[in-house]
Amino acid sequence: MIKILNQNQKIQEAIQQKHKLALARVIDDKTLGFHQVTQRENLWTTSQQIADDFRKKYKTLVVMGIGGSALGGRVIKEALAFKTDREILFWDNVDPILMDSQLKKLDGKLETVGWAVISKSGNTIETLTQCDYVAQFYKAKNLNWTKQVVVITEPRENPLSNFAKKFEIPQLEVPLDVGGRFSVLTPVGLFPAAFLGLNINLLKAGANKALADVETVTALTALSEQSFINQEWITVFWTYSELLKTFGFWIQQLWAESLAKKVCRDNKTQAPRASTPMPCMGATDQHSILQQIAEGYKDKFVVFIRSEQSESQGQIINESLFNNMYHMNGKPFGQLLKAEAIATQAALTEHGVSNITITTPSMNEELLGYLFMYFELVVATIGESMNINTFNQPGVELGKVIAKDLLIKGL
Ligand code: PA5
Repeated sequence: MIKILNQNQKIQEAIQQKHKLALARVIDDKTLGFHQVTQRENLWTTSQQIADDFRKKYKTLVVMGIGGSALGGRVIKEALAFKTDREILFWDNVDPILMDSQLKKLDGKLETVGWAVISKSGNTIETLTQCDYVAQFYKAKNLNWTKQVVVITEPRENPLSNFAKKFEIPQLEVPLDVGGRFSVLTPVGLFPAAFLGLNINLLKAGANKALADVETVTALTALSEQSFINQEWITVFWTYSELLKTFGFWIQQLWAESLAKKVCRDNKTQAPRASTPMPCMGATDQHSILQQIAEGYKDKFVVFIRSEQSESQGQIINESLFNNMYHMNGKPFGQLLKAEAIATQAALTEHGVSNITITTPSMNEELLGYLFMYFELVVATIGESMNINTFNQPGVELGKVIAKDLLIKGL
């Protein structure tokens, strides 16, 4: 489905073999749910059923959630927006400016808006406080907000599931064995996708293809480990399709929270170092970060993610208005993007920067399902080979404790 062109990089056979074993261990590990989601029919049918009901009632959906509870849904919406007549707004920040401006726009048609409250733990301060904010807003207008809500959380008691129970709000399950940032192919992403009217079974088909694609998964994991050996401590994910703009941020979260750990699985040994992920957007960032990547310290490994669709689409420029742009005449606009992606890659090679290119076919549900499962497998395999716990994020806890303390004691 995707192809890797490993340009100035040679895959080291021994590392790829080691990663094939690591990937097999990940897939064999039945305590990990993320690679089993395509077999769990109930996740797909329940998401579809409630989304069908919401589609009948609402034109707009607001998703309240943060991190892994929002990014995957945003990717789906942005990548496949061209296929839908529905709108989804994502509240993945707690800036009142965002909430107030959107509530202002929705005011007057509040009954036509569906609300999805997504939190795997059901205990996240940002998401729960947003609920309070909206419930209050509806109450002030004598409207019953809880009738318009679906809750997506773990199937166990938590503040959010208790709230759902109390107000008889329908609930969809985030399985206990699927981590937040690995949850896009559970109701966390499936419900928004089905609300948009997308074919979620094609997402599943794509994910199943990635699960069978050992060579392509381990090609990227091996090249990534090689980049760590070369001390390339920044991995740039440089997407060249507008449709995949948020995808770079989804990978960033998946990579950063999963791979940067203090200790190994024994909780004692210092964990090996992993790179810092950095999303970039083509052609935009050619006029921004490119200078530093090209001539700055050689500590980067660049993964170009190109789109055959973007590169072949667009009107043909018949005759440019500008005499120095004659070379665009007779060419579809997408050829400009293609030339720039190839040129940036070639220039980086000349500057001695390690890079590879992933090419993707036209955007659809199957490709997206593939890409989600593909990168989840890549990250899980790298984590497995580093002997770290890929699925926790202890480093984010301290900030939460301090914030709570500040709120209790006063700022
Ligand atoms: O990957 C993770 O587990 C986190 O990034 C979570 O997705 C994020 O903290 C939100 O948590 P929750 O879904 O429990 O509200």
